[in-house]
This record gives sequence, C-alpha cells and structure tokens, in this order.
Amino acid sequence: MANLKTDFQIAPSILAANFACLGEDVSKVLDAGADIVHFDVMDNHYVPNLTIGPMVCKALRNHGITAPIDVHLMVTPVDHMITEFIDAGATYITFHPEASDHIDRSLQLIKDGGCKAGLVFNPATPLHYLDHVLDKMDMLLLMSVNPGFGGQKFIKGTLDKLRQVRQIIDESGLPIRLEVDGGVTSDNIKEIAQAGADTFVSGSAIFGKPNYKKVIDEMRAALATV
Ligand code: DX5
Ligand code: ZN
Repeated sequence: MANLKTDFQIAPSILAANFACLGEDVSKVLDAGADIVHFDVMDNHYVPNLTIGPMVCKALRNHGITAPIDVHLMVTPVDHMITEFIDAGATYITFHPEASDHIDRSLQLIKDGGCKAGLVFNPATPLHYLDHVLDKMDMLLLMSVNPGFGGQKFIKGTLDKLRQVRQIIDESGLPIRLEVDGGVTSDNIKEIAQAGADTFVSGSAIFGKPNYKKVIDEMRAALATV
C-alpha cells in the first residue's frame, strides 16, 4: 500500500445532510473531524435525481466553510457547470468521462480555473478513459454504487477495481488521490483502504447517525489498523 496512514481523508457526502439547515450541518460534520465536504450535483438527466448547484456551494463559502469542497458532477453536459463551480469556490471538481464529449478539454478547464480535477468511474465504466489524461488528474473517484442516490449497498467488485487503479497510480508516480464513493461505513472502510483507497466518501453512514464524531472516530480507528 502506497498511502501513508496519516493521509487518509474522510469526505462526508452532504447529500445525506439536513438541507433545511445545511450550513450548520456542514460545520457540525467538519467540527466532528471530517476533512473534505463531498458535494453531489445531480441533474435529472445524467442521473434520475435532482440536487444542488453552484449557488449552494457559494452559500456554503459565504457561511464560512473553508474546508475543501469536493464537487462530484453527475451532470451532462459538464463544461458549463465546471465554470460555474470554479466561480462558486469549489476545490475539487470531478465528472464522469462518458458525460463529456471532450474529456481532456473538461479536465483542462478545471485546472485552468485553479481547481483540482478528476474523473469518476461508475461500477461498469471501463478504466481506459484514463489512458491519455492521467497527468491532468488530481483525483480519481471510483463509484462503489451506481450514481444517483445515497444509502445504497457497497458493490464488492469495486475492491478489485480499486486494486487495479492503485497499481496504475503508483506506477505513474503521480500524486493522484484515490477516492471511493457509495456504501462506505465504519465496518467496511478498512478493507476499502486495504484495496488502495485513500479518500472515503460517506453519506448516510455519517449523517444518518446522531453523533457524527462517534462515526468518524470509528472510521479513523478502523483506518489506523490498515
Ligand atoms: C451517489 C453519490 C454519493 C452518495 C453516497 O450518487 O455520489 O456521494 O451520497 O451516499 P452513501 O454513503 O449513503 O452511499
Ligand atoms: Zn458522490
């Protein structure tokens, strides 16, 4: 495993947060020890659900959220939304390669805007999309559920895909984070880390519990034994 234990990052998905008081809930989860805010953008087109857009990202910044915001675009087309999220204060912007007609251009657009860029792979999306763009990537996100909804069950086949991607990243020597998204809990986070992930998105497992710190502490304790 190439990752330092100290480099594991926990990214609560605010899809499962309380939208009626989102700023407070995001502050609360960060105070509980989260590292990154995972921000799911769904358009009722690329995925059959509709969530939040750049105005909400900007509102979180205005509310005083300074932690990295990890914008996961589940939209098509992607380029206009990339521009909007750069202006709204995103830190990372990731998109699904099959949702963009010009993957290299979309990645470059993110980089030119001063954000960190990444691609997202659904459980059945082939890895060949990485072939010519690895050097433009700061983050590689593997979906461990099909995108569109929180609260789904972790798809086990993701572990093999993680091992494959970990090898690709290590062989490249590039500082690319390997994130996993969907069905991550304190019970399975250890084996996910052992398969090579270093960044863990978790929505319902954290926001579904009354004590966010307790869950995040359990996750960190599990990660400390990797
Ligand atoms: C699904 C989203 C995920 C989702 C994860 O399309 O990308 O980020 O919120 O939620 P849980 O952790 O509940 O599976
Ligand atoms: Zn997500």
